[in-house]
Formats: sequence, structure tokens, C-alpha cells
Amino acid sequence: MDALTLLHERNSMGKLMGPPPDRQQLDTLYRAALRAPDHKQLTPWRFIEFSGEGLERLGNLFAEAEHREDPDIPEKKLEAVRKKPLRAPMVIAVIAKVTPNLPKVPKQEQVLSAGCAAYGILLAAQAQGLGAMWRTGHFAFNQTVREGLGLDTYDEIVGFLYLGHPGGRDKPLPERDPCDFVERWN
Ligand SMILES: Cc1cc2nc3c(=O)[nH]c(=O)nc-3n(C[C@H](O)[C@H](O)[C@H](O)COP(=O)(O)O)c2cc1C
Repeated sequence: MDALTLLHERNSMGKLMGPPPDRQQLDTLYRAALRAPDHKQLTPWRFIEFSGEGLERLGNLFAEAEHREDPDIPEKKLEAVRKKPLRAPMVIAVIAKVTPNLPKVPKQEQVLSAGCAAYGILLAAQAQGLGAMWRTGHFAFNQTVREGLGLDTYDEIVGFLYLGHPGGRDKPLPERDPCDFVERWN
């Protein structure tokens, strides 16, 4: 697939099956991520890869977070939360590793760079015939989850990327006209 077709036709895939991406595919994903634009070369990126029992550990962390927020939550709902990461054979948490108080590279720029890294992973996944979906839910902003994943004070979870082999049909792409989004100062 050529680069422009990939950019024009990227499509999230929510239904994902095993096996998880292999080591070579993962290496390709991370190499794409590591070319994210990066002001002052801070490399503000960290990736945590979950598969196998790791997905269950992530589910337990989500459930613990949910339970702390609502101690009266019914067990059935908690179980559904626990299973969330099992929707894919692999999840990669993309974290913005933020250096605070840099006058020329404010936090927002570092978080954006990590967002670009996440996007690079989505694109490189599709280029390799994999499926991927970027999710946050409220867990990306939850203190229990942040602590469980070892984030420092200024770090941010930019997303949980669900990855695997496509398990469903591609949805139709939206028709969007660039003219509706572009203002020209000629
Ligand atoms: C930062 C971010 C967080 C997202 N979180 C979720 C989420 O928690 N759940 C969800 O269903 N979609 C979420 N999405 C949207 C999907 O990843 C996806 O973009 C959307 O379903 C549209 O599909 P498309 O990417 O193929 O256009 C998120 C997207 C972004 C950029």
C-alpha cells in the first residue's frame, strides 16, 4: 500500500483476533512511533505492551480503579470492566513521558508528540495488515491506573492501542470534503 493511500484510508478496527503482532511486526510499529515529530528531541514516549496474562493484569487494574471510584459497583459490572483489555490479543499503552517546566517545549507539545507516536503505530499496523483501535475510556485519566502503570506526576496516558488481526469488515470511510475544514488566507 502506498503512503498516501494508507493516510487516506486508515480505518480503526474494533473487532480484533489473535494472534498478537509478532516481534518483527512490533518492531516495525515502534519504529514508526519513534519517528513522531519531537521538539528538542526529548523523545517523550513510553510504551507498555500487554498480552497474555498481562492483559488480565491490566483488566484487574481497570477493575480496581472502577471499584475505588464506586465501591458499591455490582460484581457483574466489575467483571465487564475486568474483561475490557481482552477485546484484543494485545494492548499497547502509549504514555507521554513529560519533562516539566521547559519554556520552549510545554507539556502540550510533548503530549502531542506522544499522540503522533500513537498514530504512527495505528498507521504501521494497517500497513502490515493488522487491525488497531485507539481507546482511552476514563481509565486513561484515572489516578489508580496512572499509579499502577508507574506514571510520574506530569506524565499522561495518551491511549490504549488495541491491536490484533482484523476480526470484522472494514467500516465505510466517512466522506469528508477538505473545503469544509480549511480556511485560506491567500
Ligand atoms: C485520544 C482518543 C481516544 C479515543 N478513545 C476511544 C474510546 O475510549 N472508545 C472508543 O470507542 N473510541 C475511542 N476513540 C475513537 C476511535 O479510536 C476511532 O477513531 C473512532 O472509532 C473512529 O474510527 P476511525 O478512526 O476509523 O475514523 C478515541 C480516539 C482518540 C484519538
